[in-house]
Amino acid sequence: MIVIFGSINMDLVARVQRIARPGETVLSRRADSFFGGKGANQAVAAARVSHGGSVRVAMAGAIGNDPFGMACLKNLEENGVDTRAIRVTDEPTGCAFIAVDETGENAITVASGANMALRSADLPDSLLSRASVLVLQMEVPMADNLEVAARARRAGVKVAWNFAPVPAVKERSTMAELLAVTDILVVNEHEALSIAGIVGEPSGEDYLKAGSAISRSFGPTCIVTAGSRGAYAIAAPDGAQIHARARPVTPVDTTGAGDTFVGVLANGLAEGLEIGRAMERACAAASLSCLTAGAQAGMPQRGALEQHLDQA
Ligand code: RIB
Repeated sequence: MIVIFGSINMDLVARVQRIARPGETVLSRRADSFFGGKGANQAVAAARVSHGGSVRVAMAGAIGNDPFGMACLKNLEENGVDTRAIRVTDEPTGCAFIAVDETGENAITVASGANMALRSADLPDSLLSRASVLVLQMEVPMADNLEVAARARRAGVKVAWNFAPVPAVKERSTMAELLAVTDILVVNEHEALSIAGIVGEPSGEDYLKAGSAISRSFGPTCIVTAGSRGAYAIAAPDGAQIHARARPVTPVDTTGAGDTFVGVLANGLAEGLEIGRAMERACAAASLSCLTAGAQAGMPQRGALEQHLDQA
């Protein structure tokens, strides 16, 4: 089983010619709402490719007692995610305000709401102990993320931590604590450089050097996603590198591509694939997810992903 401990948002999305600069207003024809939140996106990505396989997906999260929250819960259920550890709180459901430009790039502001009410205790031991992989991100309270990760490690559950988004507060001690309880760290280029800087291993613009330093100094396998260049895994103790290529696509919307990668990677790990193969599937799924507007709409089902991989 894969357990995701993380955020649930409703995404309010405006397509713009170009993303507004500070102090500027740009017009968009309309706003659309999509299901989002890094945790929920990763849960849906994992559930779609797990469907028809042996792995189940459960999520612990927090929503508000409001129409957004109820719609998000129903969406997770319809995607086959076990939602028994999702708590309805007094806070409003998380909301993300997203501008997507003509090239598919985005700028996101998250109003966290209920996500900050999520607690380690919301994930019962009975559920955690059934997991083979726990997946975390950075949109819920850090102390609870760390506590859940430590519980998972004690229970022999593999911890995959997606360090996104980069938090405003960057303390070396907290980062060292996070890396000490992580088996697989998934970061993009920018996040890799940011962590390396926090832990005193500045790496300039070299994200592979950053990934190597993180892995060497703290032990986790570090997977750096690099958009159209695919993804790299760097493993301690010798810094051995594995590269998975990305298939070229013309993106419509890159929102949720990283989450698709993480969810499909978790499925591969839970199904016992070796890491290079799991990354290859995750890269292919992330590319497919960019072809449709919205974070979750383009995430492939298992059959579509397999067909795509066979054709390539
Ligand atoms: O990674 C994309 C997600 O980030 C969006 O769905 C949005 O909700 C924010 O959490």
